[in-house]
Amino acid sequence: MKQARRNAVRTLAALTVGALLPIGAAQAAEKIKVGLMLPYTGTFAALGTAITNGFKQYVAEQGGTLAGREVEYFVVDDESDPAKATENANKLVKRDQVDVLVGTVHSGVALAMAKVARDNKTLMIIPNAGADELTGPLCAPNVFRTSFSNWQPGYAMGKVAAEKGHKTAVTMSWKYAAGDEASNGFAKGFEASGGKVLKHLTLPFPNVEFQALLTEIASLKPEAVYVFFAGGGAVKFVKDYEAAGLKNSIPLYSSGFLTDGTLAAMGGSGEGLLTALHYADGLENAKDKAFRNTYATTYKLQPDVYAVQGYDAAQLLKAGLDAVKGGKLEQPAMIKAMEAATIDSPRGAFTLSKAHNPVQDIYLRKAEGQENKVVSVAAAKLADPARGCRM
Ligand code: PHB
Repeated sequence: MKQARRNAVRTLAALTVGALLPIGAAQAAEKIKVGLMLPYTGTFAALGTAITNGFKQYVAEQGGTLAGREVEYFVVDDESDPAKATENANKLVKRDQVDVLVGTVHSGVALAMAKVARDNKTLMIIPNAGADELTGPLCAPNVFRTSFSNWQPGYAMGKVAAEKGHKTAVTMSWKYAAGDEASNGFAKGFEASGGKVLKHLTLPFPNVEFQALLTEIASLKPEAVYVFFAGGGAVKFVKDYEAAGLKNSIPLYSSGFLTDGTLAAMGGSGEGLLTALHYADGLENAKDKAFRNTYATTYKLQPDVYAVQGYDAAQLLKAGLDAVKGGKLEQPAMIKAMEAATIDSPRGAFTLSKAHNPVQDIYLRKAEGQENKVVSVAAAKLADPARGCRM
């Protein structure tokens, strides 16, 4: 073929491709399919929404893509119902073939989701659920968490309660992994510093008939009470604790979930409560200020810990995607990059433990008006013990 003719053929081929594909599409990376499995109804509905908002805020800040990839969302309302969890996770993994599962809030639901993720080798990022097992005996290379383990804030609060001079405490929670493990964390911290937990009281999730247990607390007369409740149930509990006349006689402590995103609905009953959590209002860092401004402007709401955890889930996913550039979603390369990432979180920068759980500061906070104001760092760079994790 003569040179001129060869060039003409090449030009024609290029024009044909150009006519079939939109400009730039020849180089465009494959999109990333994100499965959001979160509660959008029930007692944790606001938590699922905040996580979704935070995740999408980070993507928007990246110009609507992650590492240059278009993000396609597949969404399931898990209703915080463990009985429906396997089927719901399978909808995303098998039917929609998502590349990554992001979820969820409820520990029992997350345990079932993680089994689906492990069995199918689907990448999973947990933006809340604290079940200790997920980064303990059930840890897996493809399962990451951007939130906390139930043990972490509980343990930090136990230490603080003992340092305040309390010798005895009663713990109370819903009867499921999160409540039992948070209370266990509190007991570990409290008893290591000389305190004694007299009794762990429970009621089924998501019941809010607290009266009989409040009567029992009054008769046990502990020097302190520690609880795990969150969302709508937390609002009712704090109001009932005050109405039962206990607020002024027995100091109430909790993981910060009790008062995050709930103070307004408590209408003053939460005022003054001390809680421990990996996020707080009034953290003086530039990342947090920018995050909060954008969140408030975009959603006309103040962000809370759940929004932060969702935002950081998107940041962690981007760290993985950066490692594979525009190419195939090679899991080993993504996992390696995610393990090595430092997440520039509004809570303060954090890294992940070998078990893929955040190593992070736990703040002591005090509820003032609508805010959980930071008081101090209750436990610096606290790592979950990750008992039973072999990876
Ligand atoms: C959990 O089930 O792990 C859980 C639920 C709500 C929270 C925190 C933890 O606010």
